[in-house]
Amino acid sequence: PLSAGDKANVKAVWDHVKGHEEAFGADALHRCFKIDCQTQTYFPGKDLNEGSAFLHSHGKKVMSALTNAVAHIDDLEAALSKLIDKHAHDLMVDPANFVLLNHHILAVLAMHLPQLFTPANHRSLDKFLHTVMRCLISKYR
Ligand code: HEM
Repeated sequence: PLSAGDKANVKAVWDHVKGHEEAFGADALHRCFKIDCQTQTYFPGKDLNEGSAFLHSHGKKVMSALTNAVAHIDDLEAALSKLIDKHAHDLMVDPANFVLLNHHILAVLAMHLPQLFTPANHRSLDKFLHTVMRCLISKYR
């Protein structure tokens, strides 16, 4: 579980993510599709090339959902409830893909916010993304 220190670390980093959701999200998705090609299968017919309008609009949605999760970090399940249903029931995303995307989100944060990517913040961000993932896959059966 996230400690009070983890929550404080995540909030401190996310203050610097706010306003950059589209750029950071597009970068994370681009890396995910490029490096872990199997994730592309959930997006048939979408333009997944670097800089595409879809990467930008979808990247913004994903990172903004995380911004919202950080704002409700004490009540993640409620904050994510619509996304839980969508990913589990409508999209049926294989949980393994969340691990992959989380990795790329971490890499993007490390590149864009290097001064904030201390070992302690790295660990707290990792725990936060893992907690979000656990939440998003909690309704699978
Ligand atoms: C849609 C967030 C992980 C596949 C969405 C939407 C959000 C979102 C906010 C838009 C929902 C809506 O329009 O109602 C997240 C977050 C994730 C995550 C926060 C984890 C950090 C994944 C993963 C995959 C995936 C790992 C598969 C590789 C999709 C697909 C859609 C979607 C296919 C629908 C896209 C479309 O047709 O517009 N996600 N997602 N998501 N997500 Fe995720």
